[in-house]
Amino acid sequence: MKRSGVFLVLEGPDKSGKSTQARLLVERLKKMSIPFLHTREPGGTSFAEEIRRILLDPKHQVEPLAELLLYEAARAQHTEETLRPALKAGKLVVCERYILSTEVYQGYARGIDKAVVGRANELATGGLKPDLTVVFDIPDGEFDTRDVKRRHDRLENEPAAFRRRVRQGYRKLAPKGALVLDGRKPVEELHETLFGAVARRFLKR
Ligand SMILES: Nc1ncnc2c1ncn2[C@@H]1O[C@H](COP(=O)(O)OP(=O)(O)OP(=O)(O)O)[C@@H](O)[C@H]1O
Ligand SMILES: [Mg+2]
Repeated sequence: MKRSGVFLVLEGPDKSGKSTQARLLVERLKKMSIPFLHTREPGGTSFAEEIRRILLDPKHQVEPLAELLLYEAARAQHTEETLRPALKAGKLVVCERYILSTEVYQGYARGIDKAVVGRANELATGGLKPDLTVVFDIPDGEFDTRDVKRRHDRLENEPAAFRRRVRQGYRKLAPKGALVLDGRKPVEELHETLFGAVARRFLKR
């Protein structure tokens, strides 16, 4: 399928600032009248949001392979129903989490074979790759200082050792060309860095 938009993915551990930065970025794009789509994984369609609810519900005990396949089911739906049409329409797509999250959480942190995760990602996306992946890197301890009143979802309930593997996974597996930012920097500074990178790469005429 022909695509002419830009596919930007924001990645990083839980509470690393993905949603905060996605909101600031799309507010700015809106002011500039740049057509955009703000979406997330798992989710981004009504069916995939239902899968998200199941995946993140702390009441379930979930086998790693079952978890992987549900993430990929949500992703297959999201890719076809939301991502490809938006890119075809020329939008700047800002997506919170994508295939790197699965490589990190289900692959590196849960221990599912890397090749299996790679094949599952390939199958779910038909090979659709981000134009730019941005990783917000935060030390594990940050998790305990942010949003302290919010109830944790199933993955956030994992022990600190899991979070350490997640952080390490991001640092090891961030694809070539990814922009890795220090997520402890002030929100406004991160926004300017992110916007600058996006503008330089994609908004030049
Ligand atoms: N640069 C920052 N410095 C300090 N706190 C921040 C920063 N960015 C975001 N926060 C705070 O950290 C918390 C989590 O931020 P946010 O929801 O944007 O993260 P997230 O990566 O989307 O998390 P999740 O993985 O749970 O969706 C919020 O309370 C937010 O205000
Ligand atoms: Mg978020």
